[in-house]
Amino acid sequence: MNAENHAQGSRPKVLLVDDELGTIELMAVVLDAQGLDTRLSTDVREATRMLATETFDAVVSDVVFDGNDRGGEVLAASRSLSPNTVRILMTGYPVIEGAVNAIKHGAIDYLQKPVDPIVLATTIRRAMNERLIQPEALQFQDLVNILSDMVAQTIERVDPYTAGHGERTRSYCRQIAQRFGLDVRTTERLELAAIAHDYGKIYLDDLSFLTKKGPLTAEEYRAVQRHPALGAKRLGNNSHMQDVCQYVAEHHERWDGTGYPKRLRGKQISEAGRILCVVEVFDSISTRRSYKNPWDLDKCIDFFESQSGRAFEPDILDVFLGLLEEYGAEWLAAPALDMRVAEERRRLDTSLMS
Ligand SMILES: [Fe+2]
Repeated sequence: MNAENHAQGSRPKVLLVDDELGTIELMAVVLDAQGLDTRLSTDVREATRMLATETFDAVVSDVVFDGNDRGGEVLAASRSLSPNTVRILMTGYPVIEGAVNAIKHGAIDYLQKPVDPIVLATTIRRAMNERLIQPEALQFQDLVNILSDMVAQTIERVDPYTAGHGERTRSYCRQIAQRFGLDVRTTERLELAAIAHDYGKIYLDDLSFLTKKGPLTAEEYRAVQRHPALGAKRLGNNSHMQDVCQYVAEHHERWDGTGYPKRLRGKQISEAGRILCVVEVFDSISTRRSYKNPWDLDKCIDFFESQSGRAFEPDILDVFLGLLEEYGAEWLAAPALDMRVAEERRRLDTSLMS
């Protein structure tokens, strides 16, 4: 997003270029619903003219127009007129050729056709966020965010159902903590714990049941219950991580003592740990699994209200329920979107490795 747009908080502007109008019209509907303004063109010369007269935050172009490889012309025009614009190539080529082609045409990313509009919207936003951080302005916090994303992807590798779970948990924890008045230092450590709370899963002896279609057996359930302590232990070699490890170890404990692994109760669980417990459960029940559908908002609210003073601390739950009323619809839609993006990323990674 250009700096002016950002300051005004307006919708990012995206130019979609493809000789098949139906393709980009369909994309435009989805991108519009995702908060992006779109302009469409089916002609390379027209698109180039539009780039000369309007400012776009992102340009998305097909490679082949009427049998000719002309997508590069659109992207080249964008690169010379507005170097900071995000450029994405849609390509029908196999992955390796697609990547080479994208680099040749000055694209910063590429997507293989048919392109999922949701994946496109997420790719545009991610690329725009990266562009907003100029190298000289890179903060240590930005590097923490990059590393956090890598940790989250490591966990997703053994448990694909957790796609985006760490980052969403982090975001919801931060919002509760801020509204609850948790101090900055504790909030920062809570955010790290939220990202890494399922880290112990990668050290389980048997990973196969993490992707099992159906409920776990009693033995499998006992094995998976080791992951909070395993995660805390594996993260815990540095004394500065002590608080983070504590929250990770506590993330399946419950206010009424019915959780695991230590059956801690009430204020035996840290305040940050109690926040993480609420959020972790919310994001799990709002995520589709092979054996269950995600819950709707009313069912979520009923459940959490019923657990006040039982599984969860009432004061924290009040803050959470307030946020759920405001952002519930958006939060409930997030896991399915993250899953689609993760599937596309895996598909491209697999092709590149083969
Ligand atoms: Fe967990």
